[in-house]
Formats: sequence, structure tokens, C-alpha cells
Amino acid sequence: MKRIGMLTSGGDCQALNAAMRGVVKGLHNNIEELEIYGFEDGYKGLIYGKYRLLTSADFSGILTRGGTILGSSRQPFKLMRVPDENGLDKVEAMKSTYKKLKLDCLVILGGNGTQKTANLLREEGLNVIHLPKTIDNDIYGTDVTFGFQSAINIATEAIDCIHTTAASHNRVFIVEVMGHKVGWLTLYAGVAGGADIILLPEIPYDLDKVIAAIAKRNHDGKGFTILAVAEGAISKEDSQLSKKEYKQKRAKSKYPSVSYEIADRISEKLGSEVRVAVPGHTQRGGSPCPYDRVLCTRLGSAAAKAIIDEDYGYMIAMINGNTKRVPLVDVAGKLKMVDPKSQMIKEAKRTGICFGD
Ligand code: F6P
Repeated sequence: MKRIGMLTSGGDCQALNAAMRGVVKGLHNNIEELEIYGFEDGYKGLIYGKYRLLTSADFSGILTRGGTILGSSRQPFKLMRVPDENGLDKVEAMKSTYKKLKLDCLVILGGNGTQKTANLLREEGLNVIHLPKTIDNDIYGTDVTFGFQSAINIATEAIDCIHTTAASHNRVFIVEVMGHKVGWLTLYAGVAGGADIILLPEIPYDLDKVIAAIAKRNHDGKGFTILAVAEGAISKEDSQLSKKEYKQKRAKSKYPSVSYEIADRISEKLGSEVRVAVPGHTQRGGSPCPYDRVLCTRLGSAAAKAIIDEDYGYMIAMINGNTKRVPLVDVAGKLKMVDPKSQMIKEAKRTGICFGD
């Protein structure tokens, strides 16, 4: 008999259900007796004992379904050691739920913050397996996270749609792409969508260079320009500020996000019409793309094998086309960022894409 707990935590993405299905199918087909407890709304369910007993039937027919059948919520890692409003010790509460249900392992699907808490639970003696989820692709120790490719498809389609209207109206358009503190999604969607200018958090931009690139396109008779701007893009000047100073500056800004500020500046300098399009949370929604379905089936199946082997404390990663057990202790708390000196950036620059540096 194996008793498995499962939870999805943090911002959702397209292939969470596909990944859970992979785990359950991998276990169900290889273990005689299996109990699966699904915790509701991420760590909240584990803390407050909100769970339901699931059967393998619950995981049938969900390969293509977006969102998460378990629900999700954000439970910041930095608050895990802080008692809740009723004085409850969250870590002790999670351990107690785990022990009460006599779980053999907890399968935790989530991004960076979720992974840090998974590692904390490992340190506290629980058996955990982590699956790397996020459209941001910023989890250290895996080549790719699930959700990323599906989100690229959506962000690329947004840029494609903007392209046609920008061309009709000879406008400058900014498409703001999600990605939190990193630029993976913007880089891939920007290149796939043929953006002329791509601004990433990893390459602080000089607005004069951005404006010069637009002016050059105008001069060359290309009436429109598309900018793919990461939500975390930052100017050269602002990158000199401390984290705290930058946070305060953004909080006081009249602009809802950096894209609107860039739009205003371009408009002031060039006198041209600039529009901002923000696909926002659509990038996390809808059905997972075929790549993510395959990725999650493989990661889920590999997680099942680790559980069958009773080998715990890992993130199941995809490295060079192979699944791999990566010790959580080696990766928790690290961020995978775009390398400004990478081949991909150099190749993109060679084709004329401006990165504002
Ligand atoms: O981490 C995924 C992500 O979609 C980021 O790209 C984005 O910055 C953030 O979550 C948005 O979070 P929320 O759903 O809490 O608005």
C-alpha cells in the first residue's frame, strides 16, 4: 500500500493536470494498492487539513484540461515560519496532516517559492517529490518547466495579432509579456512573433537605443514597430537602484507597469502613436500544448518511478531530453535567468533584433 499526497501551489499554468495524471497513471499501473489524497488550494489544504481522497478515475480525461483540479493559492515561503492569524504554526500543521494521513510521499507541483517550501518540508523529515511548474521557465536545474511552451504559444499569438493591426495603422506597439523577474517567455515569444525590439530584465535597456531603433525602422520605410517587453524589464538607470529603492519607485509611479512608461517616453521623443497590449493571465490559461502534454506525462511518470523506488527529496527535471532526479537541496532558492551572452541572444541580435543595450 502506498499513500500519496498531492498539491498544486502558486500561480497555475496549463499542464498541472497533465502532470498529476502522469504521476497517478505511473503509480496506478505499477502498484497494487494506492491511496491518493488531493490537498485543496496548494499548501493551504495541507496546513488546514482540507483534502479529498481521489481515485485514478479523477485523473482520467484531464490531460488536455487547463488549470488544476485541486485548486491553487499563493502561500509565500517567507511567511511559512510566521504563525497565521490564529497563532497556528504552519510548518507543524503541515507535518501533522502528513503524519495523520500516514503519507509515504507528498508530490508538490509548483514554481520557485513552492519548491523552497518543498525543500523546507524535506528538511523537516517529510518525503517529497517536486515537479517544476511555471510559465516563467525560471526554475534552476531543469532545462524547461511545464507551462512555458503553452505560454509561448499564447504570447506569440498575441504578438501575431498585434502585428497585423500595427502594420495597418503604422503604429508602435508594445506587447507586455509575463515572466516575473526573468525574460524567458518574452525572449521566445518575441523571437517567434518577429518582434523588432525585445526588452528583458536580464539586459537593462537604454531608452535612447530603443528610440534610435524605432527611428531607424521609420527611416527605412517600415512604418510600424513591435516591442516585446517583459513585465520585469528594467532601464539601465533603474538597474543601479537597490531592490528596495526600485520597489518604492515603482509603487509611486503613475504607470501600471513599465510598458506604459516606455510607451509614454517613446511617444514624447518621436511624437508617434504608441499602444500597449497586455495579454496578462491569458498566458497561463487554456489547454496545454502538445509539447507540455508530453513533457508532463514524462515528468509525472518519472516521479512515479521515484516513488516506487522510495527515492525522495528530488525535483524531477528534464535535462538534455532525459528526465532526471535533481536533489532539492541543490536547487531550492536558485533562479534560472537568461544569459545575456548566450548563443540565442547573439543569434537574435545578428538578425537585427534590438535588446536596448
Ligand atoms: O509565475 C507565474 C506568473 O504568471 C508570473 O509570470 C507573473 O508575474 C505572476 O505569476 C502573476 O501572479 P498573479 O497570478 O498572482 O497575478
